[in-house]
Amino acid sequence: MAETAAPDQLTPTLAARSLTKRFDARTALSAVSLELHAGELVAIIGPNGAGKTTLLSILAGVLPADEGEIIASARQIGWVPQQPALYSKLSVAENLRFFARLEQVADPEAAVGVMLAETGLANRADEQLGRLSGGNRQRVNIAIGLLSEPAALLLDEPSASLDPRQRERLWEFIAALAGRGTAVAYSTHNVAEAERYGDRVLVLVDGELLFTGTPAELQGVVGGDVRDFESAFLRFLHERGN
Ligand SMILES: Nc1ncnc2c1ncn2[C@@H]1O[C@H](COP(=O)(O)OP(=O)(O)OP(=O)(O)O)[C@@H](O)[C@H]1O
Ligand SMILES: [Mg+2]
Repeated sequence: MAETAAPDQLTPTLAARSLTKRFDARTALSAVSLELHAGELVAIIGPNGAGKTTLLSILAGVLPADEGEIIASARQIGWVPQQPALYSKLSVAENLRFFARLEQVADPEAAVGVMLAETGLANRADEQLGRLSGGNRQRVNIAIGLLSEPAALLLDEPSASLDPRQRERLWEFIAALAGRGTAVAYSTHNVAEAERYGDRVLVLVDGELLFTGTPAELQGVVGGDVRDFESAFLRFLHERGN
């Protein structure tokens, strides 16, 4: 065995260098750098207005940064926004087909078939999107993000509207994707979820990246004994004036 890691383990699937974004006088993101590697699950946590959505949108290429650069060794990046533009009058399959064409997927029909099967929606293909439960609608959102078989998938608060069982299913699905090599980054306000389904967590506060590391490392950074990861996170914010 070679002593050095294979190149694809060293080269990040997606990297950002010093991303800055301003909205008028407000700095939503301040010199944020990060790397996302194949098979990694990265949770982005931070208070309301911290810049999580802004960061994910820039990484996804749907919002331009004012400064900084994005380096993607990857094929396309999949994007699952919090409020996706789905068509409630169209069926599940029609929505997928529409987005497959929009994204100029090589073989739209085949891609739709694969996504329906992968997300467990095959038996809902002809159902009107507006009639689906929140959990199934979220599966459609994710299916759309995955249509182009991206090497990196970015999700903004993917579990926000789900009940505990749907939430668990969602994470099983996302963890399996990561297990097959997809690099995954997501935002969440559910800190326990970030601990459970985050190989690494990024803490974003007022547009600044204040911490990158494992959940255990964050607990180690805050002094004293903390009950759980959520308490450690709150103390971390408190110690930094939040
Ligand atoms: N289109 C916009 N125009 C003006 N200001 C914006 C815009 N989008 C975001 N902002 C501001 O940028 C900052 C970061 O917002 P962002 O939505 O990225 O935060 P967030 O961490 O996703 O918050 P939340 O947890 O509430 O979703 C906030 O101060 C927000 O008001
Ligand atoms: Mg947000």
